[in-house]
Amino acid sequence: MCGIVGYVGEQQAAPILLEGLSKLEYRGYDSAGIAVYSDGALNVAKTRGRLQALADMTGGGAKIQGTMGIGHTRWATHGEPSDINSHPHVSSSGRFAVVHNGIIENYIPLKKKLMEKGFEFVSETDTEVVAHLFEYYYDGDMVDALIKVIQRVDGSYALGILSADDPDRFVAVRKSSPMIIGLGEHENFIASDVTAILKHTRNIYYLEDDEIVVLSKDDVKIYNIDKEEVQKKVFTVNWDISAAEKGGYEHFMMKEIEEQPKALRDTINPRIQDGKIVLDSVSLTEEDIRSLNRIHIVACGSAYHVGVVGKYIIEKLTRIPVEVEVASEFRYHDPIIDEHDLTIIISQSGETADTFAALKEAKSKNSRILSIVNVVGSTIANASDDILYTWAGPEIAVATTKAYSTQLSMIYMIALYMADKISMVSKAEYAQIVHEILAIPEKVEEILKHKEQIQFLASQFYNSKSIFFIGRNLDYAVSLEGSLKLKEISYIHSEAYAAGELKHGTISLIEEGTLVIALATGSELFDKTISNVKEVKARGAVVLGVTTEDREHVEDVCDYVIRIPKTHEILLPSLSVVPLQLFGYYVASLKGCDIDKPRNLAKSVTVE
Ligand code: G6P
Repeated sequence: MCGIVGYVGEQQAAPILLEGLSKLEYRGYDSAGIAVYSDGALNVAKTRGRLQALADMTGGGAKIQGTMGIGHTRWATHGEPSDINSHPHVSSSGRFAVVHNGIIENYIPLKKKLMEKGFEFVSETDTEVVAHLFEYYYDGDMVDALIKVIQRVDGSYALGILSADDPDRFVAVRKSSPMIIGLGEHENFIASDVTAILKHTRNIYYLEDDEIVVLSKDDVKIYNIDKEEVQKKVFTVNWDISAAEKGGYEHFMMKEIEEQPKALRDTINPRIQDGKIVLDSVSLTEEDIRSLNRIHIVACGSAYHVGVVGKYIIEKLTRIPVEVEVASEFRYHDPIIDEHDLTIIISQSGETADTFAALKEAKSKNSRILSIVNVVGSTIANASDDILYTWAGPEIAVATTKAYSTQLSMIYMIALYMADKISMVSKAEYAQIVHEILAIPEKVEEILKHKEQIQFLASQFYNSKSIFFIGRNLDYAVSLEGSLKLKEISYIHSEAYAAGELKHGTISLIEEGTLVIALATGSELFDKTISNVKEVKARGAVVLGVTTEDREHVEDVCDYVIRIPKTHEILLPSLSVVPLQLFGYYVASLKGCDIDKPRNLAKSVTVE
């Protein structure tokens, strides 16, 4: 989704903006632009296409002089990707420039009004109304004008606004769209996320909705909507800069797949002390857990797939009913939820618009909110009652791997923690599961050692038109993620099916040579899945089985077999997902796809 960077300081702004935007490329975009204050005027450069085109246009920023500016990468929502629709948008007089992430929902009536007042619109975007509205309200004070603007616009926004009348300061504001403030020495920044400014500072302000920021070289002031100054706490980000660099890998995705053992250790180890799961940031008591009627897990994309695993595991261990739903559906069907329900929100970015809206919906119905989030201080983290951070570090590739794995590990720990509190798990089983959770990183390492086997399998199937993933229960939950990984980066059509369900329609798509990836790791349903394998084999499918190292005779029914180490049954998804991530990666790589930035996708989806 759109990325924003803003700078004011002593250095030339344009190269800093371009460099910052390059760190936000992973979010997904189709055009880019910058505006820089130069001698009482605003110098704007913008273009459709990759950031390189903007860098070429501006000589790497050298052609645009000035020490204050704003930059933007656009992911088109209103109006096609084009030079004109790219940000920054300028007001009619050219005195104000605006970058925006989010959607101004009432832009049509506002546009009509402004046109009646003589403002001329050049783009198809919703953002342009902000530029004209700002100019309409501007009376010499940027804060006053911005307060009036945000009182008129509905929707979500992170805005950076530059004025040709103000050589020293620019303003910013956010509501339901991400934006942080970076505090440097004689320089200050705005950015959509910390990776854009990590090179310059680790000191950050997180903003609440509708807090207005005035940035100058030596000062950052924050006001509420009544123009009263607000004091903020400075957060120090401890992410390692190298974590956001490729470090010799061809793609971030492979780097992040390989980082999984470390990310898992960082997430798991601090939470297990003397064989006990310690979740300090969770305030749920035994009584709270006993009084729960139901748990809702709400998320989008891969985080939703973690929720599907979560349903099986939490129900199995605690016997509390769990419903799992995609956030964009949950919020619109008037969900039955009240103060006796717990809502678990899962989000890597902590900024996904639908997920945040679902959180608000659950909160408005008095449900307690427990979030699993990777980005400290993100919108979802700030709005939750209890937060469990995954310590995966920055994840840059659009297709998530290490965030998914660490979210899974958090789900195991919550499930076991709750089951223990309400005495639903024996001491022996508790100890065994804890022991096995601690062993997951090492077992993932073991799988990664044999990645060439998966590369070979990918080379056999990368020309497939369609690939099916099947499994039962937890194996089905992992199939969903395996299928998504493959299709999002390789553009091969793929579907995941509960193995027993395939014959109720979709089996008609199986023909001679169709690849079916069958997950048969769980022992309880192993024989049933193998029967389903035989059904597809009888119709010409080629089957790649994924099973544990101790299972015999799988080669007799499957054409190819991938084996993973043994672990406790409920933890198998943490291991079986890894070969599927690798398979998707290698297939996409053999097809020459843009693995880290697949077409049409965004990393952090901040619009509904
Ligand atoms: C996007 C990404 C997915 C991600 C989903 C949820 O669609 O492409 O990889 O799973 O958003 O993101 P979140 O940050 O909320 O986990």
